Amino acid sequence: MANRMTINYEKKPCYDIVFTDSFDLLLDELQAFDVENRRVALITDSNTARLFGSTVQAILKGHCKHVLLHTFPAGEANKTLDTVKDIYKTLIEARFDRKDLLIALGGGVVGDITGYAAATYLRGVDFIQIPTTMIAQSDSSIGGKTGVDFDGYKNMVGAFYMPKLVYMNISALKELDDRQFYAGFAEVMKSALIKDAMFYEWLLENMYEIHDRDSAILEEMIMRSCTVKKLVVEKDPKEQGDRALLNFGHTIGHAIEKAMNFEMVHGECIALGMVAAAYISWKHNWLSMDEYYEVRDMFVPFNLPISIDCIDPEEILRLTKSDKKMESGQIKFVLLKKVGKAVIDRTVTDEEILDAIREIYFSDEDAKE
Ligand code: GLY
Repeated sequence: MANRMTINYEKKPCYDIVFTDSFDLLLDELQAFDVENRRVALITDSNTARLFGSTVQAILKGHCKHVLLHTFPAGEANKTLDTVKDIYKTLIEARFDRKDLLIALGGGVVGDITGYAAATYLRGVDFIQIPTTMIAQSDSSIGGKTGVDFDGYKNMVGAFYMPKLVYMNISALKELDDRQFYAGFAEVMKSALIKDAMFYEWLLENMYEIHDRDSAILEEMIMRSCTVKKLVVEKDPKEQGDRALLNFGHTIGHAIEKAMNFEMVHGECIALGMVAAAYISWKHNWLSMDEYYEVRDMFVPFNLPISIDCIDPEEILRLTKSDKKMESGQIKFVLLKKVGKAVIDRTVTDEEILDAIREIYFSDEDAKE
């Protein structure tokens, strides 16, 4: 049995998300896309290939006109145009044409890269997302953002390009190592904090079940997170306005990610960014002091950092200001009016940002006190 959710684009049904607990329904879902008459490129990274590559390849083989597996080395460092170029080469060598199909099997990097290759190869071929990590299932596989990092700048080159289907095998989350599992939880927390106070309460109440990776709880958690994402991307698919709310924690988070040379995982960096943004929200008298500390401390049981010692606050400010989330030289900062209601604020000053970075900065001096 599967649950489904339809994502609309420009008020028309665009693609479905299938929520299930295995790959058993994958073939049925793919048959709706006439795969017996199409070549399929299954694109994945080295980590996901090891876990699910042969299972998914075996499901496709014999049912599609032709199946090829393209694997690239895992990691944000490979989210580059060079990796996309290698995919183009594979597709050209296998004579893929515009009727053929790409399938992204993996986490956020695989989804973004495959989506970008699909958007640009022959000016656009269909693609399907099979997200296998918490970040990808709760956030990045939905909404059509595709792209790569460029010169160390996150997601600097890309396209909005919608998948034809998102197939989520929630049980894949049980295979994640703890670090990836908890890092993914940061995006789930983000969804709750920006739009859904009841979901935030639910996360607090179900903390132990989430730790235990209880199947029913994980499915409900991912579906609730996707409901927030659906609400936001349907209203503003191309980030002209409210979609920027999904960048809560990402302004300072991306700066930390870059300063740390991508050695910390994305979710850990945005957890720090969310703490900093919640701090500014408190200083704006929107969150109370108690709410700020509750939000901050909510990351701790999920093994996410709330402070960092190896950054230079001034450098983080500089990097924050060079992020692409600037508009006419002004930072679009996402703050919390209250838990469950985020707003975009263009008035946050450099001093306020620096203050917030210092709040999450745990220096050697602090350690001596
Ligand atoms: N992950 C943020 C967005 O999809 O807009």
